[in-house]
Amino acid sequence: MLKQAELHRALLDRALPKTTAWNDAVVGLAAGGHAKVVMEVIRAEGKYRVVGLVDAREDLQGEDVLGVPVLGGDELLEEIYARGVRRVFIGLGAVQATRSRAALYEKAIDLGFEVVSAIHPAAVVSPSARLGEGLTGMAGAIVGAEAQIGINVIVNTGAIVEHGCTVGDHAHIATGARLAGDVAVGRGAMVGIGACVRQGIKIGCNAIVGAGAVVVKDVPEGVVVAGVPARIFPRMETK
Ligand SMILES: CC(C)(COP(=O)(O)OP(=O)(O)OC[C@H]1O[C@@H](n2cnc3c(N)ncnc32)[C@H](O)[C@@H]1OP(=O)(O)O)[C@@H](O)C(=O)NCCC(=O)NCCS
Repeated sequence: MLKQAELHRALLDRALPKTTAWNDAVVGLAAGGHAKVVMEVIRAEGKYRVVGLVDAREDLQGEDVLGVPVLGGDELLEEIYARGVRRVFIGLGAVQATRSRAALYEKAIDLGFEVVSAIHPAAVVSPSARLGEGLTGMAGAIVGAEAQIGINVIVNTGAIVEHGCTVGDHAHIATGARLAGDVAVGRGAMVGIGACVRQGIKIGCNAIVGAGAVVVKDVPEGVVVAGVPARIFPRMETK
């Protein structure tokens, strides 16, 4: 135990020496595959410098991920804040339920961090769209006119959120998914890879739309739908 605490301190001292100013510094919450993509988006934007990552996975702690050290677990966040870092990004993706991402966001906000947005230069965002804090917009993502995006949303690689859509807090529009005009995606919902949603459809909070589904009817809160056309899937646990 002592050994691990010493390792974390050594990593922190090297990555975040107490004398440095941290205006452009950002720390990533999670260090897996999604975090790597977000880091590359942040680097492409050139606004912030990723100085460290935290991840609960002990096998990653002490490793470098794309040249950035994994400092330890989430328990280091208070110490990281005390050392002057004020910004984080959410590096945790969501292949199904989004609750872990939401919890990480809330924790960061409670500790006083700003959760930065990361929007790839090759994403296209309408000037009339309204974007919440902490948006992750990957390469090729498109957000149309007067779309409204909540906080901590992912619009993943090549996903399309058409004009007039609303996307609730913590929702994930996965890679290549397409929302036609005026679709409403509830808080915490996940629209799976390559899914299509017909115009004007409402997807309930914490619902999951399966990969490749074609959604032509409203989706109730908290259910899983899949298939063409999408039907309710005999499986739960989405919250
Ligand atoms: C729909 C989904 C949530 C179901 O997950 P699950 O409950 O773990 O389902 P399983 O993998 O156990 O599959 C159960 C059955 O449903 C079928 N199934 C799974 N996903 C399906 C989908 N998207 N469309 C149609 N059928 C699907 C499986 O073939 C399997 O059928 P079988 O019982 O006849 O063999 C999941 O498969 C899915 O599509 N998730 C989205 C993932 C995604 O978008 N990832 C990208 C992130 S960027």
